[in-house]
Amino acid sequence: KTSCISVDINVDDMENYSQAVDLLNEGEVVAFPTETVYGLGAVATNDEAVKKIFAAKGRPSDNPLIVHIGTFEEVSSYVEEISENARKCMDQFWPGPLTIVMKAKEGILAPSVTAGLSTVGIRMPDHPVALGLLQTLKKPVAAPSANKSGKPSPTKAKHVEEDLDGLIPLILDGGTTGIGLESTVLDVTVNPPAILRPGGVTKEMLEEVIGEVTQPTLSEQDRKETPKAPGMKYTHYAPNAPVYLVELDKETVGNAIHKLHQAGEVVALLGPSEYKELKSDHFFSFGHEGNVDEISANLYDSLRACDKTNATIILATTTSNEGVGAAIMNRLEKAAGRKWFQND
Ligand code: TXA
Ligand code: MG
Repeated sequence: KTSCISVDINVDDMENYSQAVDLLNEGEVVAFPTETVYGLGAVATNDEAVKKIFAAKGRPSDNPLIVHIGTFEEVSSYVEEISENARKCMDQFWPGPLTIVMKAKEGILAPSVTAGLSTVGIRMPDHPVALGLLQTLKKPVAAPSANKSGKPSPTKAKHVEEDLDGLIPLILDGGTTGIGLESTVLDVTVNPPAILRPGGVTKEMLEEVIGEVTQPTLSEQDRKETPKAPGMKYTHYAPNAPVYLVELDKETVGNAIHKLHQAGEVVALLGPSEYKELKSDHFFSFGHEGNVDEISANLYDSLRACDKTNATIILATTTSNEGVGAAIMNRLEKAAGRKWFQND
C-alpha cells in the first residue's frame, strides 16, 4: 500500500525526508511536490529504479525524464558543457519552473532517463520540500509528473493517490502546488534556443535574458514527424469525457450549453467564476476571468473533477495566448485534442 506523509513546508525538518531518502537510496520511487506539479522520483543514476517510474505511470519508454537537482555545482557532472545561454538561464530562473536541455555526459545518468537521446533536461525546483529532499539525498532525481500517463498532472497529493495508489510506496504531501502547470522546457543546444514546452517561464521572460528564442505553435508541433520533446506527441491531460474548447464569451458559451442540452448531453463547464450563472450541469471555476495565474493553478484540478461527474461532454473556455496564456492554451488544446465547439 501507498503511504502518505504530510510535510510542513514551513518547518525545516530533516526527519520529514528520512523515509523518502531511504526509499530512494534503496532503488524505490517516491512522489513529492514541486512548485509546478507533483513529481514521481527515482535516483537518476539507477536504471532499475528509473524503470519503476515508467512502469507505475504506464509511460512509453521513448519519452525522456527531467533530472531534478538541489545544487548548481552538480550540473557539470551530468552535462558536456554549460553554454553561456544555459548559465544565464540558470542564474536568472533557478530554482524555478525552467527545464534546460543540454548535451548529456555519456555513461553517467541511467539510460532510461534520456530514452536514448544525447541530451538531458535538468531543472532545480523552487519548492522547499523538493529542495529539502534533493539536498538531503545529495543525488540527482529523475522525475516526470506523478500521474498515470495521459491524465492531467497532479497538483495535489490526492491526485497522485487517485492515479498511483498501491503502485508506489510513498507520497510526500506538501499541499497544493503553486503554479499548477509543468515547467517550461528550453533546448539550448540549438540556435536560437527553442522552447519545446511552454510553461511558467515565458518566451518574453527568456528573451529578456538570452535574446531570441523560438516557440512553435501547437499545430506546428503536430506536423513534425519526430517532435523534439518526445512527450509532446502523446495524448495528454485528458479526462474521460471529450473536451471541447469554446471561445471566452458568455453568449457563445450560453448558446453552446443550450444546444448540447437539446442534443441530450450532460455538460460540464470549465470557465471563469463569472460563468457559473450559465446553466451547465456541472461547473468548475478557473478563477477570475483573465487571471492566468488562477487559471494555471485550477486547470488540472478542474479537468480531474470532471471524471467524478456524469458529464458526457466538457466545455473549456479559452484564454489569450500571451505570456503564461501560451502554456495554458497549449495544455487546453492537448486536453481537447484541438476540438473546438462550433455554434452554427
Ligand atoms: O514541472 C515539471 O517539469 C514536472 C515536475 C515534476 O518537475 N515534470 C514534468 O515531467 O512535467 P514530464 O516527464 O511529465 O515532462 C517532461 C517533458 C516531456 O515532454 C519530455 O519529452 C521532455 O520534457 N524532455 C525531457 N528530456 C528531454 C530531452 N532531453 N530533450 C527534449 N525533451 C525532453
Ligand atoms: Mg507529464
